[in-house]
Amino acid sequence: MKIPTQKLRSNYSIPVLGLGTWQLLGKECERAVRKALEMGYRHIDTAEIYDNQTEIGKAIQGFDRSELFITSKVWETNLRFKSVLKACESTLKELNTSYLDLYLIHWPNPSVLLEETFRAMKILHEDGKVRSIGVSNFGLPLLKQALEVEEIPVCVDQVEFHPYLYQKELLEFCKKHDIVFVAYSPLARGKILDDKTIKELADKYGKSPAQISLRWILQKGAITIPKASSEEHLKENMDVFDWKLSKRDVSKIDSIKIQKKGS
Ligand SMILES: NC(=O)c1ccc[n+]([C@@H]2O[C@H](COP(=O)([O-])OP(=O)(O)OC[C@H]3O[C@@H](n4cnc5c(N)ncnc54)[C@H](OP(=O)(O)O)[C@@H]3O)[C@@H](O)[C@H]2O)c1
Repeated sequence: MKIPTQKLRSNYSIPVLGLGTWQLLGKECERAVRKALEMGYRHIDTAEIYDNQTEIGKAIQGFDRSELFITSKVWETNLRFKSVLKACESTLKELNTSYLDLYLIHWPNPSVLLEETFRAMKILHEDGKVRSIGVSNFGLPLLKQALEVEEIPVCVDQVEFHPYLYQKELLEFCKKHDIVFVAYSPLARGKILDDKTIKELADKYGKSPAQISLRWILQKGAITIPKASSEEHLKENMDVFDWKLSKRDVSKIDSIKIQKKGS
């Protein structure tokens, strides 16, 4: 099954479902990423801080690089001009690839001007090392600021988003400004799986609670990157494209009252 894509402001396309790899380490990481790619995943989300880029680099060998979409993120202590360039070089080396599809500022750092980080990202873009750029964990005020000072298009904001953390205002802003909204921790790190409403809907649709949460996110127009290590979870999370939640059931999930981060 081919995973649908969304167009980025850079004109490249991003698969709407990717594999999150935070906490996937060593051989387990290599095995899960390879398995995911064999199943048809094409989008892999990592970061310099995840300490798994070398394993991902091994797992992607043998797959056509031009068909893959690899995201990495520069850590908050590496946002000065020279540090961004250096961090990106080691990420590319670890991943054993010549370019990243998407490079994100992992977390904002108020002690470094955004302009400085963006200047470095522009150089990386001009050198062909980074195709698209974006931010992560940027709330509305910071995202607005990023758009004011961007040197090349900020294409993505990656933030925590799931039925327990419905960031509606930020999502609407992103849609309006053509920024792709990437939902991380889409299963609230497992907490959503025991939710009563989600479980009821899972029974109704003959799907799993994880699939209900992922489907809700996709129907919101967001894209998502669930982390999974078992073959069963990897497979289940991909099976969210040939069925739909009704409008009424989407609203039911919208009105789940708990506002709780996955962490
Ligand atoms: N930008 C940021 O600051 C940031 C922060 C956090 C996360 N992220 C990204 O977002 C990705 C996903 O978020 P996350 O790892 O925090 O949490 P998550 O994807 O919400 O949840 C992962 C957990 O759910 C389980 N799971 C996966 N599929 C399942 C299924 N079908 N049924 C039941 N359980 C299932 C996984 O178990 P198994 O592993 O056993 O399959 C794992 O324990 C991360 O890996 C990372 O790439 C980014």
